[in-house]
Order: sequence, then C-alpha cells, then structure tokens
Amino acid sequence: MPETLLLTGGAGYIGSHTALTLLRRGRDVVVVDDLSNSSAESIRRVNRLSGREAVFYEADVRDRGKLKEIFANHKIDAVIHFAGYKAVGESVAEPLKYYQNNLDTTLALCETMPQFGVNRLIFSSSATVYGTSQNVPLKESEPTGCVNPYGRTKLMNEEILTDYANANKEFAVTILRYFNPVGADPSGEIGEDPRGIPNNLMPYITQVAVGRRPKLYVFGADYPTPDGTGVRDYIHVADLAEGHAAAYERMKPGVNVYNLGSGAGHSVLELVRAYEEANGVEIPYEITGRRPGDVAQSYADPGKANRELNWKTKRTLRDICRDAHNWQTRNPEGYQKS
Ligand code: NAD
Ligand code: UD1
Repeated sequence: MPETLLLTGGAGYIGSHTALTLLRRGRDVVVVDDLSNSSAESIRRVNRLSGREAVFYEADVRDRGKLKEIFANHKIDAVIHFAGYKAVGESVAEPLKYYQNNLDTTLALCETMPQFGVNRLIFSSSATVYGTSQNVPLKESEPTGCVNPYGRTKLMNEEILTDYANANKEFAVTILRYFNPVGADPSGEIGEDPRGIPNNLMPYITQVAVGRRPKLYVFGADYPTPDGTGVRDYIHVADLAEGHAAAYERMKPGVNVYNLGSGAGHSVLELVRAYEEANGVEIPYEITGRRPGDVAQSYADPGKANRELNWKTKRTLRDICRDAHNWQTRNPEGYQKS
C-alpha cells in the first residue's frame, strides 16, 4: 500500500508542485483546499502530468466536521500543511483575517490528527521569521522576529506546533522555512497564478514579459548591495517540492526546523538580466522608492537541510527563469482561461 499524504492547500502554487513530486514518487495524495486562492484546474493538471489521481476535497481546513470525514475516509500517514493566506500587505490591512485563518487551520489539524492516530506534520514556514536580520547566510539558529501580521502568523504557528509537540511526545513536526519560491514545472502546465497585481517579483516579471503589465518597478536601488537592489535567495519550486518529499522521507521525532533555500543571493537586476538572457525578451523597468518592510538582503544557509535531509537545490537561476516564462507564455491569464 502506498503511503498517503494529506496536503492542505494542495491546489496552491507550492502545494500543487509538491503533489506532483509525491505522486511521481509513488505516494498517494489527498488534497484539501477551499480554493480561496487557487483553482481546481491545478489538481486536474497534476493528475494528467503524473498519470495518477490525487483525491481532492474542496473544503476549509477549519471545518472540523469535514476534516474528520476526510481523515476517516483515508489512512493518512502524514500531513503537509500549506493552507493559509500569504499576502503581506493584506495582512497589515486585515490582520484578523490572517490570524483567524493561518492559526485556526493549524489548531484544527492538531485537534483532529490524534483522533486518527496521525502524528507527523510538515509546516510551511518562511524566511520572513528572521525579520530584519542581515546576518547572512541565515542559519536556523538566528533569532526570530517579525515585522508584519503575516510573518507573525508563521512564527506563532511554529510556536504552537512546538508547544504541542512538547506536550505530545509521539507528535513529530518538521518546520520548513522557505526562502523565495519561484519558477514552475518544466511542462508549463502548472505554475504561480496570483490574483490581481502580483506582490512578488517573479510573477511581476513574467507578466511584464507577456505584455500584461508595461514595466517592472524596482523597489529601491540604494541598498548596501553590489548593485543597490535587494538580494534574495530564489529557489525553484520543483527543488522546493523535492525538499518536502525529503523532509517526509527523513522525518525525525520532536521538532526540527530547516531552511529551504539555494544558499545564493541574487539582486533584482540580476534576476531581470537572467530572465532576459534565458528567454530572449526585454523587461523594461523603472527604479522607484523602497517598499516598506523590505530588507537589503536575505539568503539561506541551507547546510542543515543538505546534511540531514540529504537534499539540495539542483536547478539554476536560468532554469528558474526559463520555466517561469514557459508557464506564463502558455497560460498568459493563469488558470482562468482553462
Ligand atoms: P497559495 O496561496 O498558492 O496556496 C495556499 C493554498 O491554501 C491556496 O490554494 C488556498 O486556496 C488554500 N487555503 C487557504 N486557506 C485555506 C483554508 N482555510 N482551508 C483550505 N485551504 C485554504 O500559496 P503558496 O505560495 O503555495 O504557499 C503555500 C504555503 O507556503 C503558505 O502557507 C505560505 O504562507 C507559505 N510560504 C509561501 C511562500 C511563497 O513565496 N510562495 C514563501 C514562504 C512561505
Ligand atoms: C515577500 C514578503 C515575505 C514573504 C515572501 C514570499 C514583503 C515585505 N515580504 O518577500 O514576507 O514571505 O514575499 O511570499 O512583502 N521587488 C521589486 N519589484 C516588485 C516586487 C519586488 O523590486 O514589483 C523586489 C523587492 O523589493 C525585493 C525582491 O524584489 O528586493 C523580492 O521581492 P518579493 O518577491 O516580494 O519577495 P520578498 O520581499 O523577499
């Protein structure tokens, strides 16, 4: 019998790529997603690409009744908890929405999992928990501190899960702190499909590339970095998906925290140039003021994940740019038009 993983938020950007990786590795996948920020089309495409079938439930993870029904229907071996809201600006404007959803989904899982003997959970955290630290490359031992409600929900989730695992020794938690997930499956069938104006750099670039937006605004060129623009650790979403498979395969008792990043920092302008070169397109841009809350540089020390999970990133910045562009050109309007 294949092992079965429940992916909350599995129709979303990272969840759909992880579902594909797991199905290809012979795992069974159950997805629960309320489609608040995604489309069921992503799961249909994951099924097509893998030649297998993820079971899909359109439901809110906070719905305890529905969650029980799902756990009763399947013998779940572990949960990967992607579900949550992720827009930083919106979290500042509507903090309660973020605290309610991002925390209560975790509480619902902690309440329900033990009733069905499920005691392994992998949580989607973020490099945002390092706050304004500039102590790069960032190690897991770096002090945490957040500067917006979204980031605080990530940190609070880490703390809730740690408290819960301390009180219940059979419960194992792996916390994955993602750096900047970008790119798409090389098929161009699944990818990042933000609603409205993209908040993040890569989807903004891809939309400029296909003419959906006239130019990129570069938020600040006066940072203390080699070219003055912000430096980040861009990680191909397929590498990130493989990081989840590795985290599951090598899960240990207790609470374990891992950075998932490449370990290399690239500036905004470097990414723009890499994108132009990989795809033979021009990305017009204009330098504007800094975005509040941004740090000059953030990149991972992924050594712990390299050693303990036997995982490291394999795809290059060029692969990232090619695959992101391929997804966007094949799906200029995202999943909407399918
Ligand atoms: P996403 O929005 O594409 O995926 C999240 C999914 O969760 C969506 O499909 C949404 O419909 C679903 N969802 C939200 N609330 C739900 C609920 N109550 N019940 C059921 N489903 C619900 O985002 P993503 O980029 O795939 O991110 C996945 C996780 O990783 C999130 O927790 C996010 O905070 C975290 N993360 C993302 C990034 C990033 O840059 N994308 C970086 C660090 C951490
Ligand atoms: C942002 C969030 C972070 C979240 C992460 C993943 C903020 C302040 N931080 O991280 O909490 O975990 O997304 O969702 O929102 N940039 C531009 N022009 C743009 C967009 C971005 O120049 O149109 C620059 C930014 O200033 C930054 C870099 O590109 O230097 C990357 O930005 P982005 O993709 O938004 O990621 P982060 O800011 O690292």
